Parts: sequence; structure tokens; C-alpha cells
Amino acid sequence: KVNYLSDYQPPNFAIGSVYLEFDLQPLATRVTNRMLLTRMAAGALHLDGENLQLISVTLDGLEVTNQCLIDENGLQLMTDKDQFELVVVTEIAPQSNTALEGLYRTSNNYCTQCEAEGFRKITYYLDRPDVLSVFTTKIIADKSENRYLLANGNMVESGDLADGKHYAVWLDPHKKPCYLFALVAGNLEKITDTYTTVEGREVRLEIFVEPRNIDKCDHAMQSLKRSMQWDEQRFGLIYDLDIYMIVAVDDFNMGAMENKGLNVFNSKFVLAQPATATDVDYEGIEAVIGHEYFHNWTGNRVTCRDWFQLTLKEGLTVFRDQEFTADMLSPSVKRIEDVKRLRSNQFPEDAGPMAHPIQPQSYIEMNNFYTMTVYEKGAEVVRLYHTLLGESGFQKGMQLYFARHDGQAVTVQDFRQAMADANAVDLAQMHNWYVQSGTPHLQVTAEYYPETKTFTLTCKQSQPQTKDFVPLLLPIGFGMLDQHGQPLILEPTFESAAHVELRSNTHAILRMTQLEQKFTFMDVSSPPVPSLLRGFSAPVKLHFEYSNADLALLAAADEDSFVRWEAMQTLLLRTIQSKVSALQSGSELALSNEVLDVAKALLEDEQLDAALVAMTLSLPELGYIGEQYQEVDVDAIYQAHHWLESQLAHGLQSQWLAAYQRCQNNGPYQYDKIQIAQRMLKNVALSYLGALPENQALVASQYQLQQNMTDVLAALRIMLVHQHAAAQDAMQDFYQRWQEDNLVVDKWFALQAQTQNAQAVETLAVLLQHSDFSLKNPNRVRSLLGVFSRLNLVGFHRADGKGYQMVSEQICLLDALNPQIAARLLAPFTHWKRYDVKRQSLMRAALQEILQREGVSKDVYEIASKSLA
Ligand code: ARG
Ligand code: ZN
Repeated sequence: KVNYLSDYQPPNFAIGSVYLEFDLQPLATRVTNRMLLTRMAAGALHLDGENLQLISVTLDGLEVTNQCLIDENGLQLMTDKDQFELVVVTEIAPQSNTALEGLYRTSNNYCTQCEAEGFRKITYYLDRPDVLSVFTTKIIADKSENRYLLANGNMVESGDLADGKHYAVWLDPHKKPCYLFALVAGNLEKITDTYTTVEGREVRLEIFVEPRNIDKCDHAMQSLKRSMQWDEQRFGLIYDLDIYMIVAVDDFNMGAMENKGLNVFNSKFVLAQPATATDVDYEGIEAVIGHEYFHNWTGNRVTCRDWFQLTLKEGLTVFRDQEFTADMLSPSVKRIEDVKRLRSNQFPEDAGPMAHPIQPQSYIEMNNFYTMTVYEKGAEVVRLYHTLLGESGFQKGMQLYFARHDGQAVTVQDFRQAMADANAVDLAQMHNWYVQSGTPHLQVTAEYYPETKTFTLTCKQSQPQTKDFVPLLLPIGFGMLDQHGQPLILEPTFESAAHVELRSNTHAILRMTQLEQKFTFMDVSSPPVPSLLRGFSAPVKLHFEYSNADLALLAAADEDSFVRWEAMQTLLLRTIQSKVSALQSGSELALSNEVLDVAKALLEDEQLDAALVAMTLSLPELGYIGEQYQEVDVDAIYQAHHWLESQLAHGLQSQWLAAYQRCQNNGPYQYDKIQIAQRMLKNVALSYLGALPENQALVASQYQLQQNMTDVLAALRIMLVHQHAAAQDAMQDFYQRWQEDNLVVDKWFALQAQTQNAQAVETLAVLLQHSDFSLKNPNRVRSLLGVFSRLNLVGFHRADGKGYQMVSEQICLLDALNPQIAARLLAPFTHWKRYDVKRQSLMRAALQEILQREGVSKDVYEIASKSLA
């Protein structure tokens, strides 16, 4: 069944309050659901429900079980009453729930995941985000096995019962849709802390984990406190309950979930110690803790009318968490990281068969639309408002949004209207970003007129895959440099001035609203080099014919760190592309001095931010290189990448070594901007050095030092990639050391899954048989199968199709257990059009086989069928 945005109808019943009682048993949990219903419109009452065993239905005290029509989607009941109490009793088996949606078990604990439509697997209900209700939850369970009984809101009652049971009652005073419901029970341990709000109210903070992980919660707790403070300071948003709980579980489909007052997290985004977690992990934890916390206002207090509005809460909350990380660490580093992520993961999605606008217009399975597009491109679109309105204008818009919509379930239009009204501007054109899919192209040409000393940019926007493409409101961050790299003062002509917003003498936002538009600047004494799309001011593909010399100039001198990074990356990308052509035509290629010179200058300048240098000199990712081609030549790209790496390693060996030594720090690990930057540059340097056989001992010694996981993992990866003599022993040692720590074992799997060599598929086969591999744990599946199929181009795309075959077999097995995760693993197959005809037919055959599997889930069906259509 396909759901369409255009079919939206308001609910015909409201649920004033709901009282839930859970009698927890692994195989037979009884759920009693008492609802106060009020009619809003004519028609039968339809409640959503799936995989439930119905025990009874009672209407105002009268049993009506036999009057209910039950099918696989729910329950229907005819009644003339306008207001009544309905009590529905059902039974479920959390222990057999491998889909990890609804109520399930993980490491002998109970937990729930209801977003998007999981509540209907717990009880019959109006499972839609525009039905808001006050929830009271009573949990009854065996006491020795369930020390803690948790639900949303505040605990209002608890006590012991007969037969070794106990109970707790929780009341959440805030009205909420059922996707924010949560229940957790089990023998967990907790750390506690407090946070005092700006209003002086004390909030109790609790993080619950399995007992063996209790020493890995500090960073998460600090992150939570920083999130609370940041949201007060930057957005003026204060927490609204007396307690905030976070529970970490090992089996979780996604990153985390913002259930009101009781977040449930994938343990990957909670647990950290310097010895077990990398800088990237630490940053991920801080970001996800922030993200879920920020949802309390953008998502929970103001929620979505329907699931087509998902980007309303996700795009906005990702934008907020990006800004949080930027403020905690380095804004320019964070911006570049986010752009890389968008380009390597969202751009391909936007170019493939699953392309959808940030507001999808239809879906079969909503879980398939928790995508890079809805989240990350959605955040880019929110950033457009911020770029157009500035920080203070954006904050005015946010204030109006909350003033108007607190306690409501609203749409992306409501958000835009608040932004527009608060600033008295017309933002209607922003709508086009929500309804058109595909990455827009921005084609820029420039003309210099010496007679008038003017400089004209001609900008064209287009989206080849979108028919009847309508122009987007597109802000272009802009500046100009002279031939010596000096910034030029911006003087727009009278006609251009209306569309040029000067942010300083040398920086402007060009406001593009038409398919084609010209911007002219005066008093330009010689042909300038334009600096375009500063800060990556819009999620587009920019085309401008820069010479290599222009790029070198921008890389060295532009005032915008994104443009500097981008210029160098373009130089590197061009070099790789030339090498790809050379390999394809069997000709030779030498590395140009230009590339080497700019790289050398960056590396020798000790004044520069080490993190920016590290990112600037890292090679573009294979996936992003592939993106540049209609047809991806896997082997040539891999070889060209490899070639450039060793050229830079050779050409700058002494500079790499100097940078490596300069960035050494023997003090204790700290998660701060300076140390992170040092480790980043140090490990980029080491990865170049490790490409040369003479540096094997250096890499091995970094592994042996065991200073922190960032350094250990970097060394290990380099040893594996370059097949150092000590690689296998180190991998053994690593496994021995950490085999009890699931998150570290995930890293051990992922490292091997991504190593590209002739035996990659055989390695995968061995790992699939490993006693620590399990299809039941999503993190493990992602670290082996997800990493292999996304990052191991050589292995996954092996010419004989063995890579495809091995992954698709696992997808079929997984679909029977956990359809959500199975569907996600399909993504690499959906891009079959990008490969040669032989691989195309192998990939299509795999998709067809998956599609024809008996009992295929709707999750997998939707993606496989759409990508074959
Ligand atoms: N709302 C959660 C977040 O972004 C994601 C949960 C989605 N889960 C799912 N199964 N679709 O933080
Ligand atoms: Zn979210």
C-alpha cells in the first residue's frame, strides 16, 4: 500500500488521555490500554495494530470484542458515541521480536522503539503523529530481573507486589504522539548528575547502561550538560521536566531516539573511554546526545502533522546539532566534515532511483525515508534560512515558531511562515527546495571587461533529472581575489545591488532566484579570481572553469576555509581523474609541481589549523570520485587513488615526518579542539608515510604504544591497507585485547571489511563465519556487510559477481529477522546504473532475487522494486 501526502485527512477521534499497563514477560507480555476517546468527525473508529494477539475490547464497561473487525493492519469498531472509554487488552512476545521495533529484548532487558510506526506493535492505537495525548504508564515485572522500570515523564508511584514482582507508575504531563512513548526495564546500572537551568530549576540526569559499561558514561553525561547549556544560550530553550534519562542498548536499528524524558540510544553513541573510542566516536556521541536533547523542543514540543513532514523535525534538529558541534569544537572543520558527508552519502542518493525531495510525496514503508536526504539535505535547507536571515533573523523566526506552535503537530509550511513573518520577508520560493528531488547544478561563468573595469558573473541553475524544474532561492557566498591573492572590495552595480547582500567589504551573499541571473561588480582593476559558494552556502554542484593556478591561489589565500579546502580538493580530484584517463588509455602521467607545491606550503605553515591542513591534504574519498563519472571504473579509480597517495608520500616525505613529530603529544588523552586537530594531522601524515615500505616500523610503534583508540586504530588501518609485515599479528593482538567489548569488536570487523585487495571477498566469507558475527545485531551487520558494500569497492564490485552474491544472500537472511536493516543494506545495489553492463546485470540479478524471495518485507520490496523500475 502506498501512502500519499495529498491524501492527508485529520483524525476522526482524539485521545484525551491514555493509561497503559504492562505486565512484562519475555514471551507473553500483557498490555492493557485504557483510552478516553472523543469524536472529531463522523465515521468508524479505526485503530492501528500489527502482530498483536487481541484478548478483549471493552467500551464504557461493555465487552465489544466480537463487534471488532480485525485485519493485519488494525481494528475497526462502529459506534455512535461521541465520547467513551475504550479498554483494549493485547498480548505480545518481546523475546521473539527481532525487528527491534515495538517492545523488544536486548541483552535481557526490555526496551521500545516506536518511531515511526512501532507503537502499533505494542497495542491498538491511533498511531499517527497528529494524535497527542497525556500518557500514564504502569509497569509490572519480576523484581530480580528488572531492577529498574522506566517510562516517560516522572515516576509517581512504585512498590513491591506478590510473587517477587514490583511495579512503577510514570506520568508524562506533556501531551505527545505515541511515537515518543518509551518503556525500559532490566538490570541496568546508572550514573546520575544534575543540571540547574537558567531559571534555577534542578534537573536530575541519569544514564543507564549494562553493568559492565558503567565506567564508559562520563563523556555522554558531560555532553548532555553541554547540550542543555548550549540550547539555553543559543536558542533560549530550557528543559521542561524534572528528570532526563538516557538508556544505552546494544541492539538498536538507528543512532538514538528522542522519546520524551527517556531517550534510548545505540550504545555506540553513549559509551566511550580513550582506550576504546576514537575522536570520531567522541564527536559522534556529543552530536547525537545533543541531537536527541534538542529534539525535546524541535520534535517533541512542536511535532509533525504526518510523516511527510519528517524533515521539519529532523532537518531542523540536525542543523541544530551541527551548530552545537561547531560551537563546541571548530566551525570550519565541522562545516567541511558535514559537506563531505553530504557529498559522499546524500548526493548519490539524490542521483539514484530512490531520489526523493526532503519532503517525500509518497512512501510504502516510512522507515525507508529516514534518509540522508530528509536529514542532511533537510539540514542544508534549514541552513539556507539561516544564511538568508542571519543568526538574529533566524532566532526571531524560531521564537515565533514556538510562540505559534508549541504543543501542536505542524508542517514544513508552518515553519517557513514563522521564519517569513518574523522577518517580514517573502520566503515562498523556498517551497521549491521541499518538493524537487535531485542535486541542483550551479553553472557559473565570468567575464572581465577592462574598458569599464567591471566583472560579471553569469549564474545558471538546473536539475537535469527533474522535469519542469522550477528555480530555487539559492544564496551564493561570494568574494573576489586579485592575482596576488589579496581580497577585493565588492562594489555591485546599481542593478545588481538589489540581489547582493554585503556581509563585509569583501564578502557577499548573491541572492539567486531565477534560472539565470547576472551579477556585476565595478572598480575591478584587473581580472579577479572569484571565490564561489563560500561556506558551501547551498547544497548544489558548482561548475566553474578554474585554472589550476586559480585553484592554487584560492587554496592558499581565500578568507573562507571551506573554499580553501575545496580548491585543494579539486586540484587533487583533477589529478586523480587525469590518472584514471591515463590508466584507461595506457599512457603515463607525472604529478604536476603545482599540486606538490601547494601541499608543501600548507604542510610547512605551522600557523595553520592542523585539522584544516589534515583535511585539505586528505585525498577525496573513492565514493566521491566515483560520483564524478557516468560510469564508474572501479579498478582505475582505486589505482589512481593509490598512485596519488604514494606520489604525495614520496614527494613530501620529510614534510610528513616533520608534521608527524610536531603533532606528537604524550600527555593524557583529552577531547578538545587542539588535541583532536593534532591527532588528525599526525594520522594523516602517518597514513602517507605508511604508504612507503621504509616506514613500517614507525607505524608499528604507534600501534604498540597503545596511547588511545584514535592512534591505535589509525596505525592498524595503515598496516592493513599497505599490507605491512606486522599487520596480521597486530590484528590478532587487537582482537585478543578487546574481544569482550562489542563496540571495539565492531571496529575489528569494519577494518577488515574495508580493506581492498584481491582476497576481499574471501575475507568477508571467513568473517561471516566468525563466532562473533551475528545478523541479529545491527551494529555488527553494519560494521561487516554495510562497510564492505559501501566502502570496499574492489571487493563488492569484484568482476565475477561474488561480492554481490555474498551480500545479497545475507540480505535475504536478514530480511526475515530485521527488515529495516535489510532494506538499508540494499542501497549499494540500487546504484547499478553507474557500472559497466556486466556488473549492471549481476547487480540487477541480485536485486531481482531479493525481490522474489518468499515473504519479502515491504521495506525491502519498496527499495528493490523502485530501483529496478
Ligand atoms: N528520531 C530519531 C532521530 O533522528 C530516529 C529514529 C528513527 N527510527 C526508525 N526506526 N525509523 O534521532
Ligand atoms: Zn532526529
